[in-house]
Amino acid sequence: MNLINKLGDKNINLDKAVLLFNENGHKIYWVGSVEDSLFRCNTYLLQDGTQNYLIDPGGLVTHFPQVMKRVKSIIEPSDVTHIIVHHQDPDLCASIPLWLKFNKDILIMAEQRATVLLPHYGIVDGKYFNIDNKAIALPSGGELRFIRSPFMHFSGAFVTYDSVSRFLFSSDICATLDDNWKLVADDINSYLGLMNAFLKDYIASNKAIKGFLRNIKDIKIDAILPQHGSIIKKEFVKPTLDYLKDFKCGLDILYQDL
Ligand SMILES: [Fe+2]
Ligand SMILES: [Fe+2]
Repeated sequence: MNLINKLGDKNINLDKAVLLFNENGHKIYWVGSVEDSLFRCNTYLLQDGTQNYLIDPGGLVTHFPQVMKRVKSIIEPSDVTHIIVHHQDPDLCASIPLWLKFNKDILIMAEQRATVLLPHYGIVDGKYFNIDNKAIALPSGGELRFIRSPFMHFSGAFVTYDSVSRFLFSSDICATLDDNWKLVADDINSYLGLMNAFLKDYIASNKAIKGFLRNIKDIKIDAILPQHGSIIKKEFVKPTLDYLKDFKCGLDILYQDL
């Protein structure tokens, strides 16, 4: 059951993990950080059977203690079996070596262009799964589908689609930098306005957006869960994707004369 619509911001206890989906042993939690920074980060924990996927675990200094606290409110850190990192930025990846101290066998799921960079965070003998546009079966019968989103904003960027919840973990796509943060966006027009800054500065071009939209056109999305900013619930998914469609960004703006 998708619980996002039931979350009223006033009632959310952000000190603990926040349950976003729960159905037949398939659970998704927000376990992110709430520090006073525009670059506040969302991390998610997806549980399916005995598998625990930490999605974009976050940075070292401010994020890790917070993410750890929220993960510990559900499972032991040694129970994390998989880490999905949608690209190689430190705000997603820098804490990976600390998670590996609890379980050295964690499978790091990344795109190969990111995988070659990850050892530079101090990951020794990491075990990697090359996502390469694949889907993997979950114990419950659903699947996680890894869909490439090149140059949004890294060349090897991708998003993860969970077929059970129909949640799209979008990483920096649909991200906002907001000092008045809410876990779930309640005013889509102001949220779309807040997306502008990140889009213009980080996304390569409108062609990258159009390619990404084509890559996801056949999936039904019940929520978009970005790494910065707020969760976009089902009724706001279409207006958000429509907003992206013709958005000019990155090189479109920088090199208008070419
Ligand atoms: Fe990034
Ligand atoms: Fe990010």
